[in-house]
Amino acid sequence: MEILPGITGLAKGRRNVQCSNMVQYRDHCTFTKISIMPITWTSALETGHPTIDAQHKDLIATVDKLLEACQQGQAVDKVGPTIDYLVSYTKRHFTEEESLMLKSNYPDSAEHRNLHVAFLQVVADMHAELQKAGPTPTLVSKIVRTVSDWLISHIKQHDTKLAAHLKIANT
Ligand SMILES: [Fe+2]
Ligand SMILES: [Fe+2]
Repeated sequence: MEILPGITGLAKGRRNVQCSNMVQYRDHCTFTKISIMPITWTSALETGHPTIDAQHKDLIATVDKLLEACQQGQAVDKVGPTIDYLVSYTKRHFTEEESLMLKSNYPDSAEHRNLHVAFLQVVADMHAELQKAGPTPTLVSKIVRTVSDWLISHIKQHDTKLAAHLKIANT
């Protein structure tokens, strides 16, 4: 019996899981509630650059979709592809921002790019863990929390700065 304190959910595979609400499941491949608040898009996350903002909104919507999939008890085979999509969309978004940095000769591009590279490594490690262990509640909640926290902090501290530069550079 695996105990998952603080997380209500089910682990993949043929085993019993006792969750924090003391519900017990057997041989399930379905998640139930994961106690993480969805990210809400607010004007505080707006950088003012239309492409960057549109992609941030998509990223946040994907994180929330993942959370919703878990909370609505969707099967793990639907949760896995959502995480895969989140990983590939994050890479695409970083490539877009880095191309805008290049085009506009952004002076802090090296620092900003390094932050992207470091985060992609964190994501790659979680992705590898996911492929090895499957989308367990513990891992899915770790991915959702890590991506949400990083995104909010990065948008506010770094993407906003980049967008201000892009506006001046008319890029
Ligand atoms: Fe960025
Ligand atoms: Fe960004």
